[in-house]
Amino acid sequence: MSGAAARSLCSMCSMSPNSLSVGAAWDRDGSVKRVGGLPPEIRAGTSAVRAPLQAGEFRQAVGRFATGVTVLSTLAGERHLGMTANSFVSVSLDPLLVLASVRRDARFHDPLLAAGVWGVSVLAADMSEASRFFAKRAHDLPDPFARWAHAIGPETGVVLLDGALSVFECRTVATHPGGDHTLVIGEVVFLDRRHEDAGPLVFYQGDYVEPVAVRTGPNGPA
Ligand SMILES: Cc1cc2nc3c(=O)[nH]c(=O)nc-3n(C[C@H](O)[C@H](O)[C@H](O)COP(=O)(O)O)c2cc1C
Repeated sequence: MSGAAARSLCSMCSMSPNSLSVGAAWDRDGSVKRVGGLPPEIRAGTSAVRAPLQAGEFRQAVGRFATGVTVLSTLAGERHLGMTANSFVSVSLDPLLVLASVRRDARFHDPLLAAGVWGVSVLAADMSEASRFFAKRAHDLPDPFARWAHAIGPETGVVLLDGALSVFECRTVATHPGGDHTLVIGEVVFLDRRHEDAGPLVFYQGDYVEPVAVRTGPNGPA
């Protein structure tokens, strides 16, 4: 696992080593299910279960949720900034909304909130180097996008990577605190799809993996 990969949150972000509290899981009949073999401490009249879990265990467990990888972009005045993120989620079709979760102490965070506009470039399988770069070295350079072929988004002026499978320009419509992250919800104001034959970059258990293409459709073989 690479050094950058070891910092994942989002499986990549640094997290406090403090223990985490988690809620219970419920069976269909409404009874409380034990989570991870931990002893339930159920208060009378409630179904709450709270148990101390370690951030490392959490990171390993969420790391088993395979994701795509994006490079987010935004503006700090004239300067273009970028940050690798796998917390990108599509939220709503009407209006068109997407979400990204950004660590509050990342250098990208404050400029993102200040600018109110951001780009998303969904990385193709051959873009792991860009993912590593925007997770680390990019932040020290005056023009982090200089070595990556890109265009400027027509609606917001943020950078969109040429090699990406799809790109989005977003205007922030809401932010929500999420622990040591901020959830940023954006309305999509421009999008484009490219490279139809290319595969996605996939992140799994702290590393980049080749997805196995099994095209059966969401409900299995017809
Ligand atoms: C595959 C991958 C996915 C990541 N996803 C996120 C994410 O969703 N949110 C986030 O805040 N950081 C994420 N990171 C970490 C940031 O890219 C990294 O912490 C940030 O660029 C470092 O910024 P800093 O030097 O200002 O701390 C991810 C890193 C990698 C390699």
